Amino acid sequence: MTDTTEQALSLSPPKHVAIIMDGNGRWAQQRNKPRVFGHKSGVQSVRNAVKFAGSIGIQALTLYAFSSENWRRPKQEVGVLMELFMAVLTNEVKRLSKNQVRLKIIGDVSRFSDKLQLKIRQAEELTANNTGLLLNIAANYGGRWDILDTTQRLAEQVKAGRLEPSEITEELFSNATCLAGVPDPDLMIRTGGDHRISNFLIWHAAYTEFYFTDTLWPDFDDAVFGDAIASFQGRERRFGHTGEQVQELVSNDSKESN
Ligand code: IPE
Ligand code: IPE
Ligand code: MG
Repeated sequence: MTDTTEQALSLSPPKHVAIIMDGNGRWAQQRNKPRVFGHKSGVQSVRNAVKFAGSIGIQALTLYAFSSENWRRPKQEVGVLMELFMAVLTNEVKRLSKNQVRLKIIGDVSRFSDKLQLKIRQAEELTANNTGLLLNIAANYGGRWDILDTTQRLAEQVKAGRLEPSEITEELFSNATCLAGVPDPDLMIRTGGDHRISNFLIWHAAYTEFYFTDTLWPDFDDAVFGDAIASFQGRERRFGHTGEQVQELVSNDSKESN
């Protein structure tokens, strides 16, 4: 880790980081192994990322594990991914709980087997009262699905006369999505070299900072995570304001806290 990265890690961390964990298949192919070998190797990077996020004080980490579109993959690969998901839930939950991690699965879980749905519920219940890092695993998640699902539920409330259309604000809408109560991601990292969002948190990423790296997911480590944080810390988030306005807000804030 470079000095700049070490320095960036001493600043107050982003509250919420989202990661598109991409590149498992290519990592395996580079080693003349089947794609699923990459998925299995990627589990260690997940463990590391969770540990690192907790250690630097990130409050929420949202990991994209399986998209609504990933069902289009060969049946065998989808099958292995489901088995892996089941195995991780079975084997890792106690350790996560011991580390005070609160686990939540976001996505349309209704398409998973009953057995997997039960495991998901048990894992969520077991970790529900933990007070450390919130770990969201996006599984059968699609940003468009999230927006549609939210819209349908709100429309039902309007139909039942419990909600006025004019009461649907950005805040109310956000609090009805999968990430209800969680601040929007400050930083989104994508490994694997592609520069796209692939239907991840399209509602929530309106003002998210993006960081793209060529590193393939199984090679993702503290140094790469640290570089992403350092890049984030060097950016000016303007949210529509001018740079001068942002500087003024920062200096007023520091005057108030003195
Ligand atoms: C990401 O790695 C994992 C999932 C989408 C489940 P990929 O499997 O997409 O790996 P590449 O992009 O083909 O290398
Ligand atoms: C995005 O990766 C989904 C996950 C990492 C779970 P993909 O590999 O599915 O994305 P595309 O298809 O290349 O856009
Ligand atoms: Mg991919």
